[in-house]
Amino acid sequence: MKVLVIGSGGREHALAWKLASSPRVSEVLVAPGNAGTACEPGVRNVPLDDGDNARLLEFALAEDVELVVPGPETPLVAGLVDQMTQAGLRCFGPTAAAARLEGSKLFAKQVLDAAAAPTAGYREFTALEPALRHVGERPAPMVVKADGLAAGKGVVLAETRQQARAAVRDMLQNGVFGDAGRRVLVEDFLEGEEASFIALVDGEHILPLASSQDHKARDDGDRGPNTGGMGAYSPAPVLDPSVEARVMSEIMHPVVRALRDNGAPYRGVLYAGLMISPDGAPRVLEFNVRFGDPECQPLMMRLETDLLDLVDATLAGRLDQVIPSWRPQSALGVVMASGGYPGSYSTGQCVEGLDAPAGDTVKVFHAGTDLKDGEVVTSGGRVLCVTALGDTLSQARDRSYGAVSQIAFEGAFCRSDIGARALARRHD
Ligand code: AMP
Ligand code: GLY
Repeated sequence: MKVLVIGSGGREHALAWKLASSPRVSEVLVAPGNAGTACEPGVRNVPLDDGDNARLLEFALAEDVELVVPGPETPLVAGLVDQMTQAGLRCFGPTAAAARLEGSKLFAKQVLDAAAAPTAGYREFTALEPALRHVGERPAPMVVKADGLAAGKGVVLAETRQQARAAVRDMLQNGVFGDAGRRVLVEDFLEGEEASFIALVDGEHILPLASSQDHKARDDGDRGPNTGGMGAYSPAPVLDPSVEARVMSEIMHPVVRALRDNGAPYRGVLYAGLMISPDGAPRVLEFNVRFGDPECQPLMMRLETDLLDLVDATLAGRLDQVIPSWRPQSALGVVMASGGYPGSYSTGQCVEGLDAPAGDTVKVFHAGTDLKDGEVVTSGGRVLCVTALGDTLSQARDRSYGAVSQIAFEGAFCRSDIGARALARRHD
């Protein structure tokens, strides 16, 4: 069958690569894809905007696509699944009603409240004065969030009340996030260790995927500005079996039930961004309605089961009948980014060293790359996610960084401590 993957990042390269390995898939189309997907056997890029749902639908029908796998949240929040399903196509993800879990932070909080699931305390505001007054009454640090989608930039961790006031003004008064920031949430600051809990949900059953952890800050030691993610690994020791059991019973099951009771049953990938307190109590920071990027890259390296089987089981409501198999090894991905990211950066830089032999334990997933006159050039902030398997996490890390050292482009940088937190815990 033909499968259409939507998106152009490292996550989509990993999904396309994994789907192309399925004996049941004849071709994977990626809209619009990147230089990595362009060169992947069994994969073809199609020059379509991943935000243009109408064109994507038209294309999927014309190409006899049998399954659509959207990578990013934007098309999902804009109703891609509803539109594709109405046209008789199978599309892997939540409906617009359920995707509000990521599309509106207030909606997510309301579902969490209905589910009595643990999360940071919050208040919501659309008017400036009450929001400023509230900030003046709260202890710092606190967190100011734009309600809607703001391309990952709508969260301000304010260390002082002054910073929180500035963030509230930016959103409610200066409209820096447009409509997404017309409503803000002022949230309590949670302490602990972050982890990504990614599961498949078929409306009723929940199948947790292997654990993973992301590094959101730009610089070593979790310093510097927030990014989309500078690296990730799986498994993540912080999500030990007892924490995982708590996440399932205190968060995932009640939330999936609350959505169903709300008339918005959830189908697709459900990603809970968690803060795990030192005593192992999980609390929800946010929901995403898709795979994490870069968490997806190490997950796909470790997944032995055919991803198509998992997608089919999700769409058929049969997730209680599948047990995915994971490689026992660890996987770790290091993001190579363009100088200046997550601020402004240059593009069009030649990427050298991609042909260096890396062996079958290393896979270079592309994100912000393009082909120009047959050469790979940079086209985004996160350029590559160099991912490796290893018998231990430290072996996976050494292999990733070994491959990173072979690759070069003007201004390239990466964090040098991906995996450090887990390694400190495991002593391996
Ligand atoms: P979000 O998009 O809501 O995940 O926020 C982005 C990042 O901000 C998260 O990955 C956390 O690192 C941080 N964050 C969000 N909410 C909180 C919170 N209530 N307390 C502490 N950190 C937070
Ligand atoms: N890696 C974080 C995210 O995908 O939202």
